[in-house]
Amino acid sequence: MDFVTEINRLRKDKDAIILAHFYQEAEIQQIADYIGDSLGLAQQAAQTKANVIVFAGVHFMAETAKILNPKKTVLIPDLEAGCSLADSCPKKDFEFFLRNYPDHKVISYINCTADIKTLSDVICTSGNAIQIVESFPKDEKIVFAPDKNLGAYINNVTGRNMVLWDGSCEVHDLIKTENIIELKLKNPDAKVIAHPECKAAVLELADFVGSTTAMLNFTKTDNSKKYIVATESGILYEMQKQSPEKIFLIVPADATCNCNNCPYMKRITLEKLYDAMKNEKYKIELSDSVMKKAIKPIERMLEISLNLGLIKK
Ligand code: 13P
Ligand code: SF4
Repeated sequence: MDFVTEINRLRKDKDAIILAHFYQEAEIQQIADYIGDSLGLAQQAAQTKANVIVFAGVHFMAETAKILNPKKTVLIPDLEAGCSLADSCPKKDFEFFLRNYPDHKVISYINCTADIKTLSDVICTSGNAIQIVESFPKDEKIVFAPDKNLGAYINNVTGRNMVLWDGSCEVHDLIKTENIIELKLKNPDAKVIAHPECKAAVLELADFVGSTTAMLNFTKTDNSKKYIVATESGILYEMQKQSPEKIFLIVPADATCNCNNCPYMKRITLEKLYDAMKNEKYKIELSDSVMKKAIKPIERMLEISLNLGLIKK
């Protein structure tokens, strides 16, 4: 079967939009209506007029799209496209943890479940985390969840002392300094760019730290010709497309890590995308009460990001 033709037909017939994260396989990125990082995808989901949203990404992203569009059909082609970071913060444990910090505001990274969003004052992504934190007074007490690496990075940049939930991404947390140094020794002319979900030791080696979109923009405008990329391999497709004359080297996986491939993102295939659109599965279902609570911190994030010009209307 020609999945591309069939997906295009179904997209038209069902008035569907396909949103894809940069970590998707190239063939999925090629067929998407919009490719972006978590912030861009949330904004697209908030703005779309399409009837059906098909999310080529992971579960928390599709949940966010559903929260922003309670009346629309939101589909994820594989229910097991989850996220180790979101899984590292179960609701009951987080509620228990928060009892120790009754006078703290809660800022949650978008890579968390809808339940965690209901317990949060505001959501952030790696594309706006610093600005979201800085939108609070300097002396505000803050709990940051679930990514301890991103939280530590923000504490370092902003001079804050946020309390951090002990969660991490199984992809970025395993990226090793040794593997970067080895590549750098062979390619001394390359700049190191890294995602803030990486450990502090990795970020210390980086010439630039930012979200997937921020890294992409950096490589477009920076004058270096070669980059060592410390994040998930999917981003290389768009980087190479935007800057065909440049060389991009992904930090390699090794025997102990799968650190340049997110096994959850890579569960989405063209065949599953087709099946999802044809059979309208798997529908994201959330209770009204969860959606009503979870939308507030997401809308607050989008409002702050719009006001600061981090996203455009
Ligand atoms: P961004 O899309 O914010 O760069 O985050 C990367 C990620 O891990 C998505 O799951
Ligand atoms: Fe989750 Fe990490 Fe995969 Fe992103 S890369 S979806 S944070 S496991």
